[in-house]
Amino acid sequence: MTEAPYYIALDGLDGSGKSSQLNLLVRALLANGIDCHHIREPGGTDVGAKLREIVLTGEHDKLDGIGEALLFSADRRQTMLKVTKPALDAGQWVVSDRSFLTTTVFQGYGRGLSLELLETLHRIAIEDVRPHVQIILDIPVEIGLSRKGVQIEAGLDEARFENMGVSFHQRVREGYHAEAAKDDHIVLVDADADLVTVHNRVVEALNGKLGISLTPLPREKVLI
Ligand SMILES: Nc1ncnc2c1ncn2[C@@H]1O[C@H](COP(=O)(O)OP(=O)(O)OP(=O)(O)O)[C@@H](O)[C@H]1O
Ligand SMILES: [Mg+2]
Repeated sequence: MTEAPYYIALDGLDGSGKSSQLNLLVRALLANGIDCHHIREPGGTDVGAKLREIVLTGEHDKLDGIGEALLFSADRRQTMLKVTKPALDAGQWVVSDRSFLTTTVFQGYGRGLSLELLETLHRIAIEDVRPHVQIILDIPVEIGLSRKGVQIEAGLDEARFENMGVSFHQRVREGYHAEAAKDDHIVLVDADADLVTVHNRVVEALNGKLGISLTPLPREKVLI
């Protein structure tokens, strides 16, 4: 059933449910007998955690698009060299909260950087180790921002990209759709639904793309 190791990334707008769904996916994999590495970008290593602080806090126009792309790429490279590649080489699955696709859509479609330039940067940063599947949790911008607004008000999250304005996030969403249309490794999953439904859709998408048969968590285990 499990032709290991697979490298899976979840992507999507802020507040689309990536962290929530990653958590469920990691638990579902465990229940299917698969112990995986769970990473997040930015910030998957000690160096990355410092980079995350630089990039995600403070004023939204502190760095220009190229500065952002370079810092995110530095973090991504560190995570690739120190965590992702060693894990895959050792035969372990890796599931990641975001991937290079985030930089393509935020700095490319959102900020207007050249997609060719970003593609070159990705090749350097990740040495062409790409996820087998990139799942985009697709939601309308207003829903993501309203979910995030609740977290920011509660002091649980950084607000930098949320302050970029609705039209920025709209371009980012269109970017996700455009990239999904171009690349067979990318799957759009409708994430405008409850946690259980989205979890089932994520597992179904993975099974379809990878030709495997993971069982999703039962409803009562999602809702604890
Ligand atoms: N399917 C859902 N329905 C309703 N609320 C949800 C759903 N999924 C997640 N949430 C809630 O929305 C908020 C954002 O979810 P989450 O942190 O998982 O998103 P994210 O994509 O990881 O956000 P970020 O990009 O900021 O890391 C959380 O408060 C979470 O509990
Ligand atoms: Mg998150």
